[in-house]
Amino acid sequence: MCGIMGYVGNRQAAGILIDGLRRLEYRGYDSTGIAVLHDGAIALERSKGKLAELERKVAGQDLRGTIGIGHTRWATHGKPSDENAHPHGSEHVVVVHNGIIENYMELRGKLIEAGFTFRSETDTETIPLLIEYHLRNRLSFEEAVLTTLSEIEGTFALVMISSAEPGKIIAAKNASPLIVGIGKNENFVASDIPALLSHTRDVAILEDGDVAVITQNSFKIMDFSGKTVPRKPTHITWSRVMAEKEGFKHFMLKEIHEQPRAIIDTLRGRLTEGNGHIVLDETEFTDADVANVERIVLVACGTSYHAALVAKFWIEGLARIPVEVDLASEFRYRRPCVHDRVLFVSISQSGETADTLAAIDEAKKLGAKIFSVCNVVGSSIPRKSDHVFYTHAGPEIGVASTKAFTTQLVALAILALYLAKRRNTLDRKEIRDHVHTLLGLPLVIEQTLKSSEDALRVTDRFFEAEHFLYLGRGSSYPIALEGALKLKEISYIHAEGYAGGEMKHGPIALIDEHMPVVVLASGGPTLSKMVSNLEEVRARGGNIIAVMTEGDERIQKLSTATISIPKVGDFIRPIVEVVPLQFLAYQIADKRGTDVDQPRNLAKSVTVE
Ligand code: M6R
Repeated sequence: MCGIMGYVGNRQAAGILIDGLRRLEYRGYDSTGIAVLHDGAIALERSKGKLAELERKVAGQDLRGTIGIGHTRWATHGKPSDENAHPHGSEHVVVVHNGIIENYMELRGKLIEAGFTFRSETDTETIPLLIEYHLRNRLSFEEAVLTTLSEIEGTFALVMISSAEPGKIIAAKNASPLIVGIGKNENFVASDIPALLSHTRDVAILEDGDVAVITQNSFKIMDFSGKTVPRKPTHITWSRVMAEKEGFKHFMLKEIHEQPRAIIDTLRGRLTEGNGHIVLDETEFTDADVANVERIVLVACGTSYHAALVAKFWIEGLARIPVEVDLASEFRYRRPCVHDRVLFVSISQSGETADTLAAIDEAKKLGAKIFSVCNVVGSSIPRKSDHVFYTHAGPEIGVASTKAFTTQLVALAILALYLAKRRNTLDRKEIRDHVHTLLGLPLVIEQTLKSSEDALRVTDRFFEAEHFLYLGRGSSYPIALEGALKLKEISYIHAEGYAGGEMKHGPIALIDEHMPVVVLASGGPTLSKMVSNLEEVRARGGNIIAVMTEGDERIQKLSTATISIPKVGDFIRPIVEVVPLQFLAYQIADKRGTDVDQPRNLAKSVTVE
């Protein structure tokens, strides 16, 4: 949460900072601000609201300076306002911060006693004031920052400049992401890769406990005690174009359409047609590792949690290994039965979700091996893991996860098949058939995307409804949950996902003509039971939107509206069924005029607990 951008070089910083913040806005958008340093003076501009507000404020101003820092905020301490917007400053220092300073009340008290005045309600403002305090005691900028780091507790990505030592950015990381971008005669620092792609693809990824001192032509990385630590630069393969809308109205729409390509990238090099060869290339499981797995615990948040729920069906069904699924935020606060014969699988698009990271720490402490499914290369979760499966979906900018979800599902399906093969729970033909099905998936998704037209027709009729119910059974039940989550997060319509069999146990009381019921009825062993659900909804005057296999007249007759998908088998059904639900949510939200890519109160990666 919160996006940070810093620049030092020979170009004017303000435009570069604003451009970087635009690409980080998905991380938070309650307020924004930039500070630039010129001729020994710091100029600061901040604004409540989205980046466009800040751009309006700075338009026509001569904000000169070839070094600066910027921030786009997701509020934790203090409401979104001009005063609480970052950067926060003192006489000689400005700071941007992502995270939470837990002991800020105590530090605030001490600083007030020492004669400092606070202008905001934020925890962050303690930092520039503490640094200022140490500068007054004749410490250098670097020494003042290191001393401050020894006094603060909590999570942070901090980026700072000082008029006392112009030409230098100092950045520090503890639990919130930060990346140094390495340019020619210029350097950058940012919360995430998309902010850097227009300038460089060479980066140094900071680890927890790192401090970077960045100038126009150099950067050094040390620990909080000031000792230099080596960090090898990494070359990023994502291109700038991948992080742009390319003519689509919203990133979400672009990302929905990108799914066939993204799935091809997830599959690339991992499956071989014909001989059923399966490789988890970033992952080396020894025979002993595979034999050792007694149970698998899948942990994630939000949409990634829904992927975990689907994976339970695959891993138990194909590899016959018992699976537990837990929300990361719940896992660490109970006493989980995890030990060294448990394979702990974490799933995360961003690789930075605080709850998931904390759950991994807990599982590691209990002796489990960590396998991660992640999209962002080099992010914190893969760095903490023993085994990593990168989905290679490319940057996902829309806050509502789409291609990240379907590629996670593909990765988890491959993991299930891999384990089935290594544990001999499927025969060769079965493995070959499943591999064949997965390799054909991009084409099936391509055909499914055409169902957008159907989804549009449905939207016209139902976009004003205030409540939706989603029903699914088996591995389509998590897809019902995902469909409901997509709708609520971007359209602000109340939506609930239920297992079809549970309808009679409560939700049926809600059914009337005002609450559309989205039913996943494209096939599977429980299709006849879903048909009973349709009958029950119809008998109570409810409106049914059915996701069905094309040409299924029985479902068509029972439904108010239908969205067709191609005929597929049970293995890939959940991956295919989610696509029309993504479209449905998108079309409804767009018709209601919400901010689809940046829905209210949300942020793309949740780096606070
Ligand atoms: O980056 P992660 O996959 O760990 O993020 C988990 C959730 O925050 C995320 O899936 C969230 O629920 C999305 N906004 C859903 O669209």
